[in-house]
Amino acid sequence: MRLIGAMCKTSEPANIVLVGFMGAGKSTVGCELERIGGLQLVDLDEIIVRQCGRTIPEIFRSEGEVAFRAYETAALRSLAGIRRSVVATGGGAVGSEANWQAMRALGPVVYLRAGWPVLRQRLAGEEGRPLVDGRDWERVEALWRQRLPLYERADLIIDADELSAVQVARSILQRLNIAYREEE
Ligand code: S3P
Repeated sequence: MRLIGAMCKTSEPANIVLVGFMGAGKSTVGCELERIGGLQLVDLDEIIVRQCGRTIPEIFRSEGEVAFRAYETAALRSLAGIRRSVVATGGGAVGSEANWQAMRALGPVVYLRAGWPVLRQRLAGEEGRPLVDGRDWERVEALWRQRLPLYERADLIIDADELSAVQVARSILQRLNIAYREEE
């Protein structure tokens, strides 16, 4: 193992907040940021599931999306004060000003940008996302398109289509000037 960037480090954010559409790789890249950047991974959906004692699809089914969004905002706010963490948000967290305020207070917000063909391919192979259920791709694509300007409010945009998760993680750490470990 080799420590890269430690000598030229000029600043270090308290945390990194990952945003992006479902399937963009927020959790996977979060794992890599934990592994090579020494940050602690905090998965926002997991916090909600733990606090509610139900899965995300169950919350959507029993209480609806509006209730889920309220849990999401509460979960984000509950993170105030954490340090050296990478927060993997859910794809819809960019939808409210309250969430933006909470996210920006944590640290730089990083958008993992992926094109629709890549997202669609990844989402087709996965289960457990209420907003993708039914495989109504036109509807999912419309949601993605509608959210694009929201994601672009991020402090940093990384084009993730052509990169592996570890390459994305490395690129984020380099751009934010954070030291990281890389296998020889
Ligand atoms: C959502 C994305 C999901 C989860 C919920 C709603 C969204 O998270 O928060 O199903 O609105 O895009 P992932 O982006 O991790 O799939």
